[in-house]
Amino acid sequence: MNIAILGYGTVGSGVKEIIDHAVTKSTKQLHVSYILIRKGKAKTLPYMCDDIRTILQDTSVDIIVETMGGLEPAHTYILQALKSGKHVVTANKAVIAAYLKEFTDVAREHNVRIYYEASTGGGIPWIEGLAKAMRIDEVDRIHGIFNGTSNYILDHMQRYHASFEDILKEAQELGYAEADPSADIDGYDICNKLRISASLAYDYHVPDTFPVFGIRNITKQDVSYFSSLGYAVRLIAKTRRNANRYGCVVEPVLFEAGSLESNTQDNYNLITLHGKTIGDLKFFGQGAGKLPTANAIVQDLIDLNEGVCHMDPSFTNTMSYDETLCLRDYILRADEAARDELQDFSYEVKSFEGQEYLHIQKAEVYEMHQVMERMLKTDVHAFMASIYEREDD
Ligand code: HSE
Repeated sequence: MNIAILGYGTVGSGVKEIIDHAVTKSTKQLHVSYILIRKGKAKTLPYMCDDIRTILQDTSVDIIVETMGGLEPAHTYILQALKSGKHVVTANKAVIAAYLKEFTDVAREHNVRIYYEASTGGGIPWIEGLAKAMRIDEVDRIHGIFNGTSNYILDHMQRYHASFEDILKEAQELGYAEADPSADIDGYDICNKLRISASLAYDYHVPDTFPVFGIRNITKQDVSYFSSLGYAVRLIAKTRRNANRYGCVVEPVLFEAGSLESNTQDNYNLITLHGKTIGDLKFFGQGAGKLPTANAIVQDLIDLNEGVCHMDPSFTNTMSYDETLCLRDYILRADEAARDELQDFSYEVKSFEGQEYLHIQKAEVYEMHQVMERMLKTDVHAFMASIYEREDD
């Protein structure tokens, strides 16, 4: 199989490293024939090129691996590759979340395939696991830690009492964070991964219009307060369906100290799906990082080489967003002036080391996010986390 890698950053170079050091029969079948680099960058390898047309016109190239990230030119290049009769493998969650339906339609028309295991959950075979679960059950709930960077930050803030900024720097140095780490911190990277997961689970291309609240405002004191209550905080993506109604949300969630989520450390991800016969099924592994993510790409390459078919969704279901599907208890921190927005809620105020925290019971998740959006206009440092509640089977 001749492969062209578009982009030679953390993940692209990881793919080349695994293929160069092939130790198995399957990886020895793979051959990198091009690496597309940006115009003006030094060509440090003989097969580096800076013109996509060279790759698209070369009929000996079987598969394009897209690791550039972002929407453009990734979207255009992927479409051009599929239309040129080349399979595509990508780790790019932003482009897959936005154009999943278009890509799968075009791939079908041109009798080629697009695989994107690495886009969600890094090295975890999550999409494969979801597809397998869907052979028997209707997957009606998914929740999990889908972002390595934010997990690294929250875990290290709690275990090492470190500051947000110092740990973010570490996560960047380790190659976990996005080029612009605000996507990790503000929940938008997770939003893409949730869109991909929910779209596959519901066979409906889920739009990005659901509430997202990240961890930008969390303080060391918040983490200590949650610890004193017996909780660890994790940034969670969550979706559930009820017939043709669904809800999606990204927000910080508090888990009891003994839970698997609380004990998911460093850059690891932990994703849970629920189906009627399987119950809860959990997927755990490194959700970010050069070699784990490259590993998922190479798995897709081997599947293409060995003719292993992945699920081929049509996204023809009709679903509607239900703003009232989930109720949660919340702990919220906001200054006096911002609390005016909470006049329709009853809450209990508790103090911790001179800081007040508001405890709210059974709030509708969608409404809570709208209230927080308004509160942030008055108190830009406000923070909230919901409390995890296990749902009945
Ligand atoms: N920035 C992402 C993360 C990379 O931290 O999870 C993997 O998608």
